[in-house]
Amino acid sequence: MKSKTNKTQTNKKMWGGRFQEKMSSIMERIGESISFDKRLYREDITGSLAHAKGLEKIGILSRDELKNIQKGLSQILHEIESGEFEFHSALEDIHMHIESRLTDLIGNTGKKLHTARSRNDQVSQDVRLYILKEIQEIRKLIFQLLETLLLRAEESVNTIMPGFTHLQVAQPIRASHYFLSYFSMFLRDYEELDNVEKTTSILVLGSGAMAGVNYPTDRDFLKNELQLNSISLNSMDAVSSRDHILQFLFFASQCMVHLSRFSEDTIIYTSQDYSYIQLSDSLTTGSSIMPQKKNPDIAELIRGKTARVISNLNSLFILLKGLPMTYNRDLQEDKISLFDSVDQLKISLEGITEIVKSMKFIPENMESALKKGFATATDLADFLVREKNIPFREAHELVGKLVEICVKERSNLFDLPEEKRKNLSDFFIGEEYFEAISLYNSCDKKDVYGGTAKNRQIEQIEFCKNKLQEIKIKSNKVFVI
Ligand code: ARG
Repeated sequence: MKSKTNKTQTNKKMWGGRFQEKMSSIMERIGESISFDKRLYREDITGSLAHAKGLEKIGILSRDELKNIQKGLSQILHEIESGEFEFHSALEDIHMHIESRLTDLIGNTGKKLHTARSRNDQVSQDVRLYILKEIQEIRKLIFQLLETLLLRAEESVNTIMPGFTHLQVAQPIRASHYFLSYFSMFLRDYEELDNVEKTTSILVLGSGAMAGVNYPTDRDFLKNELQLNSISLNSMDAVSSRDHILQFLFFASQCMVHLSRFSEDTIIYTSQDYSYIQLSDSLTTGSSIMPQKKNPDIAELIRGKTARVISNLNSLFILLKGLPMTYNRDLQEDKISLFDSVDQLKISLEGITEIVKSMKFIPENMESALKKGFATATDLADFLVREKNIPFREAHELVGKLVEICVKERSNLFDLPEEKRKNLSDFFIGEEYFEAISLYNSCDKKDVYGGTAKNRQIEQIEFCKNKLQEIKIKSNKVFVI
Protein backbone atom coordinates (compact mmCIF):
# COMPACT_ATOMS: atom_id res chain seq x y z
CA MET A 1 0.00 0.00 0.00
CA LYS A 2 3.03 2.27 -0.19
CA SER A 3 4.08 4.84 -2.74
CA LYS A 4 0.82 6.24 -3.96
CA THR A 5 1.27 9.29 -1.77
CA ASN A 6 3.44 12.36 -1.96
CA LYS A 7 4.84 12.56 -5.44
CA THR A 8 6.24 16.01 -4.77
CA GLN A 9 9.45 14.92 -3.23
CA THR A 10 13.03 15.61 -3.82
CA ASN A 11 14.33 18.39 -6.01
CA LYS A 12 11.52 20.87 -6.11
CA LYS A 13 10.88 22.58 -2.80
CA MET A 14 7.57 24.27 -2.24
CA TRP A 15 9.46 27.41 -1.37
CA GLY A 16 12.09 26.81 -4.10
CA GLY A 17 11.27 29.63 -6.54
CA ARG A 18 14.47 31.58 -6.05
CA PHE A 19 16.79 28.64 -5.64
CA GLN A 20 19.12 27.39 -8.38
CA GLU A 21 20.92 24.63 -6.55
CA LYS A 22 19.53 21.50 -5.04
CA MET A 23 19.54 21.36 -1.26
CA SER A 24 22.55 19.59 0.16
CA SER A 25 22.09 16.35 1.99
CA ILE A 26 23.27 17.84 5.28
CA MET A 27 20.81 20.74 5.02
CA GLU A 28 18.05 18.29 4.35
CA ARG A 29 18.99 16.03 7.23
CA ILE A 30 19.50 18.80 9.71
CA GLY A 31 16.42 20.70 8.59
CA GLU A 32 13.83 17.98 8.60
CA SER A 33 11.36 17.81 11.44
CA ILE A 34 8.98 15.32 9.91
CA SER A 35 10.58 12.54 11.94
CA PHE A 36 9.03 14.07 15.05
CA ASP A 37 6.41 16.63 14.02
CA LYS A 38 4.35 14.08 12.12
CA ARG A 39 2.50 13.64 15.35
CA LEU A 40 0.90 17.05 14.67
CA TYR A 41 -0.95 15.75 11.60
CA ARG A 42 -4.39 15.98 13.16
CA GLU A 43 -3.89 19.47 14.45
CA ASP A 44 -2.38 20.56 11.16
CA ILE A 45 -5.43 19.29 9.29
CA THR A 46 -7.81 20.84 11.81
CA GLY A 47 -6.01 24.17 11.48
CA SER A 48 -6.08 23.95 7.70
CA LEU A 49 -9.78 23.15 7.64
CA ALA A 50 -10.54 26.27 9.68
CA HIS A 51 -8.14 28.33 7.60
CA ALA A 52 -9.74 27.11 4.36
CA LYS A 53 -13.19 28.05 5.63
CA GLY A 54 -11.80 31.45 6.49
CA LEU A 55 -10.39 31.81 2.97
CA GLU A 56 -13.77 30.97 1.50
CA LYS A 57 -15.37 33.55 3.71
CA ILE A 58 -13.18 36.32 2.34
CA GLY A 59 -13.53 35.18 -1.27
CA ILE A 60 -10.10 33.62 -1.84
CA LEU A 61 -11.66 30.20 -2.32
CA SER A 62 -14.92 29.39 -4.04
CA ARG A 63 -17.41 27.05 -2.39
CA ASP A 64 -16.34 24.24 -4.67
CA GLU A 65 -12.69 24.83 -3.99
CA LEU A 66 -13.36 24.73 -0.29
CA LYS A 67 -15.23 21.46 -0.69
CA ASN A 68 -12.33 19.97 -2.65
CA ILE A 69 -9.88 21.03 -0.01
CA GLN A 70 -12.08 19.54 2.69
CA LYS A 71 -12.34 16.27 0.79
CA GLY A 72 -8.63 16.21 0.10
CA LEU A 73 -7.74 16.87 3.74
CA SER A 74 -10.04 14.18 5.01
CA GLN A 75 -8.53 11.71 2.55
CA ILE A 76 -5.07 12.68 3.83
CA LEU A 77 -6.22 12.12 7.39
CA HIS A 78 -7.35 8.68 6.40
CA GLU A 79 -4.11 7.92 4.58
CA ILE A 80 -2.02 8.94 7.57
CA GLU A 81 -4.13 7.03 10.06
CA SER A 82 -4.19 3.88 7.98
CA GLY A 83 -0.42 3.97 7.55
CA GLU A 84 -0.52 4.48 3.78
CA PHE A 85 0.94 7.95 3.83
CA GLU A 86 4.59 8.24 2.93
CA PHE A 87 6.88 10.59 4.74
CA HIS A 88 10.09 11.94 3.16
CA SER A 89 12.65 14.13 4.83
CA ALA A 90 12.86 16.14 1.59
CA LEU A 91 9.44 17.52 2.43
CA GLU A 92 10.80 18.85 5.71
CA ASP A 93 7.83 18.93 8.00
CA ILE A 94 4.23 17.91 8.51
CA HIS A 95 2.91 21.17 7.06
CA MET A 96 4.71 20.63 3.74
CA HIS A 97 3.71 16.98 3.61
CA ILE A 98 0.04 17.70 3.96
CA GLU A 99 0.05 20.63 1.58
CA SER A 100 2.01 18.74 -1.03
CA ARG A 101 -0.22 15.70 -0.81
CA LEU A 102 -3.26 17.94 -1.07
CA THR A 103 -1.94 19.32 -4.35
CA ASP A 104 -1.28 15.78 -5.59
CA LEU A 105 -4.85 14.91 -4.79
CA ILE A 106 -6.83 17.96 -5.91
CA GLY A 107 -4.46 19.82 -8.19
CA ASN A 108 -4.03 23.58 -8.30
CA THR A 109 -6.68 24.36 -5.69
CA GLY A 110 -4.36 22.75 -3.17
CA LYS A 111 -1.85 25.44 -3.94
CA LYS A 112 -4.27 28.11 -2.76
CA LEU A 113 -4.46 26.81 0.79
CA HIS A 114 -1.34 28.59 1.96
CA THR A 115 -2.73 32.03 1.04
CA ALA A 116 -2.68 34.38 4.02
CA ARG A 117 -0.69 31.93 6.10
CA SER A 118 2.90 31.21 6.96
CA ARG A 119 4.33 28.11 8.52
CA ASN A 120 5.28 30.39 11.38
CA ASP A 121 1.73 31.00 12.48
CA GLN A 122 0.70 27.55 11.34
CA VAL A 123 3.17 25.64 13.49
CA SER A 124 2.43 27.73 16.54
CA GLN A 125 -1.27 27.08 16.07
CA ASP A 126 -0.78 23.36 15.56
CA VAL A 127 1.27 23.01 18.71
CA ARG A 128 -1.30 24.96 20.69
CA LEU A 129 -4.06 22.62 19.50
CA TYR A 130 -1.86 19.65 20.30
CA ILE A 131 -1.20 20.83 23.86
CA LEU A 132 -4.90 21.46 24.40
CA LYS A 133 -5.68 17.92 23.27
CA GLU A 134 -2.98 16.38 25.45
CA ILE A 135 -4.15 18.40 28.44
CA GLN A 136 -7.45 16.54 28.23
CA GLU A 137 -5.63 13.19 28.17
CA ILE A 138 -3.48 14.20 31.10
CA ARG A 139 -6.52 15.43 33.03
CA LYS A 140 -8.02 11.96 32.66
CA LEU A 141 -4.85 10.30 33.91
CA ILE A 142 -4.50 12.63 36.90
CA PHE A 143 -8.16 12.13 37.68
CA GLN A 144 -7.68 8.36 37.73
CA LEU A 145 -4.73 8.76 40.04
CA LEU A 146 -6.76 11.03 42.34
CA GLU A 147 -9.61 8.53 42.43
CA THR A 148 -7.21 5.72 43.25
CA LEU A 149 -5.49 7.69 46.02
CA LEU A 150 -8.83 8.55 47.53
CA LEU A 151 -10.00 4.96 47.42
CA ARG A 152 -6.83 3.81 49.16
CA ALA A 153 -7.22 6.60 51.72
CA GLU A 154 -10.74 5.44 52.53
CA GLU A 155 -9.53 1.87 53.01
CA SER A 156 -6.66 2.81 55.27
CA VAL A 157 -8.05 5.20 57.85
CA ASN A 158 -7.36 2.60 60.53
CA THR A 159 -3.88 1.69 59.40
CA ILE A 160 -1.13 3.46 61.30
CA MET A 161 2.17 4.17 59.64
CA PRO A 162 5.28 6.16 60.44
CA GLY A 163 5.50 9.70 59.21
CA PHE A 164 9.02 10.94 58.56
CA THR A 165 11.07 14.08 58.75
CA HIS A 166 14.74 13.94 57.73
CA LEU A 167 13.98 10.32 56.81
CA GLN A 168 13.83 9.64 60.55
CA VAL A 169 10.67 8.29 62.08
CA ALA A 170 8.81 11.36 63.32
CA GLN A 171 5.19 10.78 64.28
CA PRO A 172 2.48 8.21 63.68
CA ILE A 173 -0.02 9.03 60.98
CA ARG A 174 -3.03 7.29 59.62
CA ALA A 175 -2.12 5.76 56.24
CA SER A 176 -5.07 7.65 54.80
CA HIS A 177 -3.22 10.84 55.69
CA TYR A 178 -0.28 9.68 53.61
CA PHE A 179 -2.44 9.00 50.55
CA LEU A 180 -4.25 12.29 50.97
CA SER A 181 -0.97 14.19 51.08
CA TYR A 182 -0.35 13.02 47.52
CA PHE A 183 -3.95 13.65 46.62
CA SER A 184 -3.37 17.29 47.59
CA MET A 185 -0.29 17.53 45.38
CA PHE A 186 -1.94 16.00 42.34
CA LEU A 187 -5.05 18.07 42.82
CA ARG A 188 -2.86 21.15 42.57
CA ASP A 189 -1.36 19.74 39.39
CA TYR A 190 -4.81 19.17 37.99
CA GLU A 191 -5.81 22.71 38.78
CA GLU A 192 -2.56 24.09 37.38
CA LEU A 193 -3.69 22.82 34.00
CA ASP A 194 -6.32 25.58 33.95
CA ASN A 195 -3.51 28.12 33.75
CA VAL A 196 -1.67 26.22 31.04
CA GLU A 197 -4.90 26.01 29.10
CA LYS A 198 -5.49 29.72 29.38
CA THR A 199 -2.07 30.58 27.96
CA THR A 200 -2.38 27.98 25.23
CA SER A 201 -5.92 28.49 24.01
CA ILE A 202 -5.11 31.45 21.77
CA LEU A 203 -5.69 31.99 18.06
CA VAL A 204 -2.44 32.72 16.29
CA LEU A 205 -3.53 32.29 12.65
CA GLY A 206 -3.66 35.61 10.89
CA SER A 207 -0.24 36.56 12.23
CA GLY A 208 1.41 35.31 9.03
CA ALA A 209 5.18 35.20 9.02
CA MET A 210 5.35 37.89 11.72
CA ALA A 211 3.70 41.14 10.64
CA GLY A 212 0.13 39.98 9.97
CA VAL A 213 -1.33 39.09 6.55
CA ASN A 214 -2.34 41.03 3.45
CA TYR A 215 -5.88 39.71 3.57
CA PRO A 216 -8.88 40.57 5.73
CA THR A 217 -8.66 37.32 7.71
CA ASP A 218 -11.61 37.05 10.09
CA ARG A 219 -9.71 36.04 13.19
CA ASP A 220 -12.78 36.00 15.34
CA PHE A 221 -14.32 33.44 13.02
CA LEU A 222 -11.17 31.29 13.19
CA LYS A 223 -11.10 31.53 16.96
CA ASN A 224 -14.62 30.16 17.13
CA GLU A 225 -13.95 27.48 14.53
CA LEU A 226 -11.03 26.18 16.55
CA GLN A 227 -12.86 26.65 19.87
CA LEU A 228 -10.16 28.84 21.31
CA ASN A 229 -10.53 31.33 24.14
CA SER A 230 -8.83 34.41 22.79
CA ILE A 231 -6.94 36.01 19.92
CA SER A 232 -3.28 36.94 20.03
CA LEU A 233 -2.78 40.67 20.42
CA ASN A 234 0.43 41.08 18.49
CA SER A 235 1.56 39.10 15.45
CA MET A 236 5.26 39.30 16.34
CA ASP A 237 4.70 37.92 19.81
CA ALA A 238 2.26 35.37 18.39
CA VAL A 239 4.74 33.66 16.07
CA SER A 240 7.69 33.78 18.41
CA SER A 241 6.26 33.14 21.86
CA ARG A 242 6.60 29.67 23.30
CA ASP A 243 5.35 30.63 26.76
CA HIS A 244 2.54 28.12 26.46
CA ILE A 245 5.08 25.32 25.96
CA LEU A 246 7.18 26.63 28.83
CA GLN A 247 4.14 26.62 31.07
CA PHE A 248 3.20 23.14 30.00
CA LEU A 249 6.74 21.92 30.62
CA PHE A 250 6.79 23.57 34.02
CA PHE A 251 3.52 21.89 34.87
CA ALA A 252 4.90 18.56 33.62
CA SER A 253 8.08 18.98 35.67
CA GLN A 254 6.15 19.81 38.81
CA CYS A 255 3.84 16.87 38.34
CA MET A 256 6.81 14.57 37.66
CA VAL A 257 8.53 15.80 40.80
CA HIS A 258 5.43 14.76 42.73
CA LEU A 259 5.44 11.37 41.01
CA SER A 260 9.14 11.04 41.69
CA ARG A 261 8.73 11.72 45.38
CA PHE A 262 6.08 9.05 45.57
CA SER A 263 8.46 6.74 43.71
CA GLU A 264 11.19 7.47 46.21
CA ASP A 265 8.85 6.62 49.08
CA THR A 266 7.96 3.38 47.32
CA ILE A 267 11.61 2.47 46.82
CA ILE A 268 12.36 3.12 50.48
CA TYR A 269 9.25 1.49 51.89
CA THR A 270 9.73 -1.68 49.85
CA SER A 271 13.39 -2.10 50.81
CA GLN A 272 14.20 -4.97 53.17
CA ASP A 273 15.15 -2.68 56.03
CA TYR A 274 11.78 -0.96 55.97
CA SER A 275 9.35 -3.51 54.49
CA TYR A 276 6.36 -1.27 55.10
CA ILE A 277 4.80 -2.09 51.79
CA GLN A 278 4.82 -4.81 49.21
CA LEU A 279 4.49 -4.28 45.50
CA SER A 280 2.71 -6.82 43.40
CA ASP A 281 5.00 -9.15 41.45
CA SER A 282 3.61 -7.81 38.22
CA LEU A 283 5.16 -4.40 38.88
CA THR A 284 8.61 -5.59 39.87
CA THR A 285 11.56 -7.26 38.21
CA GLY A 286 14.09 -9.87 39.21
CA SER A 287 17.83 -9.85 38.91
CA SER A 288 19.67 -11.88 36.31
CA ILE A 289 22.23 -12.95 38.90
CA MET A 290 20.63 -12.67 42.35
CA PRO A 291 17.69 -15.06 42.61
CA GLN A 292 16.30 -13.46 45.78
CA LYS A 293 15.77 -10.01 44.25
CA LYS A 294 12.48 -8.26 43.68
CA ASN A 295 13.26 -4.77 42.48
CA PRO A 296 10.96 -1.74 42.34
CA ASP A 297 12.16 -0.77 38.84
CA ILE A 298 8.92 0.92 37.92
CA ALA A 299 9.41 3.51 40.66
CA GLU A 300 13.08 3.94 39.83
CA LEU A 301 12.28 4.49 36.17
CA ILE A 302 9.71 7.14 36.98
CA ARG A 303 12.24 8.84 39.25
CA GLY A 304 14.69 8.67 36.34
CA LYS A 305 12.22 10.02 33.82
CA THR A 306 11.70 13.02 36.06
CA ALA A 307 15.25 14.10 35.28
CA ARG A 308 14.39 14.02 31.59
CA VAL A 309 11.25 16.05 31.99
CA ILE A 310 12.98 18.70 34.09
CA SER A 311 15.74 18.83 31.46
CA ASN A 312 13.14 19.39 28.78
CA LEU A 313 11.93 22.50 30.60
CA ASN A 314 15.49 23.65 31.03
CA SER A 315 16.20 22.90 27.39
CA LEU A 316 13.37 25.14 26.21
CA PHE A 317 14.45 27.96 28.51
CA ILE A 318 17.92 27.78 26.99
CA LEU A 319 16.49 27.56 23.48
CA LEU A 320 14.50 30.75 24.03
CA LYS A 321 16.80 32.93 26.04
CA GLY A 322 18.91 34.30 23.22
CA LEU A 323 16.40 34.41 20.40
CA PRO A 324 15.95 37.74 18.66
CA MET A 325 12.43 38.64 17.61
CA THR A 326 10.62 36.94 15.93
CA TYR A 327 10.57 33.40 14.51
CA ASN A 328 13.92 31.65 14.34
CA ARG A 329 14.41 28.15 13.08
CA ASP A 330 15.79 27.10 16.46
CA LEU A 331 12.17 26.99 17.49
CA GLN A 332 11.68 23.84 15.47
CA GLU A 333 13.47 22.03 18.30
CA ASP A 334 10.85 23.06 20.88
CA LYS A 335 8.67 20.14 19.90
CA ILE A 336 11.23 17.53 20.87
CA SER A 337 11.12 18.66 24.49
CA LEU A 338 7.37 18.99 24.43
CA PHE A 339 6.59 15.59 22.91
CA ASP A 340 9.02 13.78 25.14
CA SER A 341 7.59 15.37 28.27
CA VAL A 342 4.04 14.54 27.22
CA ASP A 343 5.01 10.89 26.72
CA GLN A 344 7.02 10.54 29.90
CA LEU A 345 4.41 12.25 32.03
CA LYS A 346 1.56 10.14 30.71
CA ILE A 347 3.32 6.83 31.17
CA SER A 348 4.50 7.85 34.64
CA LEU A 349 1.01 8.85 35.75
CA GLU A 350 -0.21 5.46 34.64
CA GLY A 351 2.66 3.74 36.44
CA ILE A 352 2.09 5.45 39.76
CA THR A 353 -1.63 4.79 39.57
CA GLU A 354 -0.85 1.09 39.24
CA ILE A 355 1.52 1.19 42.21
CA VAL A 356 -1.05 2.96 44.38
CA LYS A 357 -3.72 0.48 43.34
CA SER A 358 -1.74 -2.62 44.14
CA MET A 359 0.58 -1.72 47.03
CA LYS A 360 -0.04 -3.61 50.26
CA PHE A 361 0.89 -2.38 53.71
CA ILE A 362 2.62 -4.60 56.23
CA PRO A 363 1.19 -3.01 59.41
CA GLU A 364 3.28 -4.98 61.92
CA ASN A 365 6.52 -3.66 60.42
CA MET A 366 5.20 -0.12 60.48
CA GLU A 367 4.16 -0.52 64.08
CA SER A 368 7.51 -1.83 65.19
CA ALA A 369 9.28 0.99 63.32
CA LEU A 370 7.11 3.50 65.16
CA LYS A 371 7.93 1.93 68.49
CA LYS A 372 11.61 1.65 67.69
CA GLY A 373 11.62 5.25 66.54
CA PHE A 374 10.02 6.62 69.77
CA ALA A 375 7.40 8.16 67.52
CA THR A 376 5.14 9.17 70.39
CA ALA A 377 7.78 10.86 72.54
CA THR A 378 6.27 14.26 71.76
CA ASP A 379 2.86 12.98 72.83
CA LEU A 380 4.32 11.90 76.13
CA ALA A 381 5.82 15.35 76.64
CA ASP A 382 2.47 16.92 75.75
CA PHE A 383 0.80 14.63 78.29
CA LEU A 384 3.11 16.01 80.97
CA VAL A 385 2.26 19.55 79.91
CA ARG A 386 -1.47 18.94 79.79
CA GLU A 387 -2.05 16.62 82.73
CA LYS A 388 0.87 17.32 85.04
CA ASN A 389 1.29 21.02 84.52
CA ILE A 390 4.96 20.75 83.56
CA PRO A 391 6.40 23.47 81.29
CA PHE A 392 7.04 22.11 77.79
CA ARG A 393 10.82 22.57 77.86
CA GLU A 394 11.07 20.56 81.10
CA ALA A 395 8.73 17.91 79.76
CA HIS A 396 10.87 17.68 76.61
CA GLU A 397 13.99 17.20 78.75
CA LEU A 398 12.37 14.53 80.90
CA VAL A 399 11.09 12.51 77.96
CA GLY A 400 14.49 12.91 76.32
CA LYS A 401 16.03 11.25 79.36
CA LEU A 402 13.50 8.43 79.17
CA VAL A 403 14.41 7.88 75.52
CA GLU A 404 18.08 7.81 76.46
CA ILE A 405 17.42 5.05 79.00
CA CYS A 406 15.46 3.09 76.39
CA VAL A 407 18.35 3.38 73.96
CA LYS A 408 20.81 2.18 76.60
CA GLU A 409 18.55 -0.73 77.51
CA ARG A 410 17.90 -1.53 73.84
CA SER A 411 14.22 -1.07 74.56
CA ASN A 412 11.44 1.32 73.65
CA LEU A 413 8.78 3.41 75.39
CA PHE A 414 6.35 0.48 75.29
CA ASP A 415 8.63 -2.31 76.53
CA LEU A 416 10.77 -0.55 79.11
CA PRO A 417 9.91 -2.11 82.52
CA GLU A 418 7.83 0.07 84.82
CA GLU A 419 10.40 0.31 87.62
CA LYS A 420 12.92 1.82 85.21
CA ARG A 421 10.39 4.41 84.15
CA LYS A 422 9.42 5.11 87.75
CA ASN A 423 13.06 5.67 88.68
CA LEU A 424 13.04 8.65 86.36
CA SER A 425 9.60 10.04 87.20
CA ASP A 426 6.40 9.09 88.98
CA PHE A 427 4.50 10.39 86.00
CA PHE A 428 5.63 7.50 83.83
CA ILE A 429 3.48 4.79 85.37
CA GLY A 430 0.12 3.17 85.01
CA GLU A 431 -2.48 3.18 82.29
CA GLU A 432 -2.23 6.88 81.62
CA TYR A 433 1.38 6.44 80.55
CA PHE A 434 0.36 3.90 77.91
CA GLU A 435 -2.51 6.07 76.80
CA ALA A 436 -0.08 8.93 76.35
CA ILE A 437 2.22 6.93 74.10
CA SER A 438 -0.49 5.04 72.19
CA LEU A 439 -0.01 5.25 68.43
CA TYR A 440 -3.73 5.61 67.76
CA ASN A 441 -4.19 8.23 70.44
CA SER A 442 -1.27 10.16 69.07
CA CYS A 443 -3.05 10.38 65.72
CA ASP A 444 -6.38 11.31 67.22
CA LYS A 445 -4.90 14.09 69.29
CA LYS A 446 -4.00 15.83 66.01
CA ASP A 447 -7.53 17.06 65.88
CA VAL A 448 -6.99 20.19 63.82
CA TYR A 449 -8.27 20.92 60.35
CA GLY A 450 -5.84 19.10 58.04
CA GLY A 451 -4.55 16.85 60.86
CA THR A 452 -4.30 13.06 61.08
CA ALA A 453 -7.05 12.47 63.72
CA LYS A 454 -9.67 10.00 62.56
CA ASN A 455 -12.49 12.52 62.35
CA ARG A 456 -10.18 14.87 60.44
CA GLN A 457 -9.41 12.08 58.00
CA ILE A 458 -13.09 11.55 57.42
CA GLU A 459 -13.50 15.28 56.94
CA GLN A 460 -10.64 15.37 54.40
CA ILE A 461 -11.96 12.35 52.54
CA GLU A 462 -15.34 14.04 52.29
CA PHE A 463 -13.72 17.19 50.95
CA CYS A 464 -11.74 15.23 48.36
CA LYS A 465 -14.82 13.30 47.27
CA ASN A 466 -16.68 16.54 46.68
CA LYS A 467 -13.70 17.91 44.80
CA LEU A 468 -13.67 14.93 42.44
CA GLN A 469 -17.40 15.25 41.97
CA GLU A 470 -16.98 18.93 41.08
CA ILE A 471 -14.25 18.09 38.59
CA LYS A 472 -16.42 15.39 37.06
CA ILE A 473 -19.33 17.74 36.57
CA LYS A 474 -17.14 20.49 35.19
CA SER A 475 -15.20 18.28 32.84
CA ASN A 476 -18.00 16.06 31.61
CA LYS A 477 -18.51 18.59 28.88
CA VAL A 478 -14.94 18.09 27.76
CA PHE A 479 -14.10 14.46 28.48
CA VAL A 480 -15.84 11.35 29.62
CA ILE A 481 -14.20 9.92 32.71
N1 ARG B 1 9.09 22.99 10.89
C1 ARG B 1 9.11 24.34 11.24
C2 ARG B 1 9.08 24.49 12.79
O1 ARG B 1 8.73 23.57 13.43
C3 ARG B 1 7.94 25.05 10.69
C4 ARG B 1 8.13 26.52 10.53
C5 ARG B 1 9.11 26.81 9.47
N2 ARG B 1 9.24 28.21 9.28
C6 ARG B 1 10.25 28.74 8.58
N3 ARG B 1 10.29 30.03 8.52
N4 ARG B 1 11.16 27.99 8.02
O2 ARG B 1 9.41 25.51 13.35
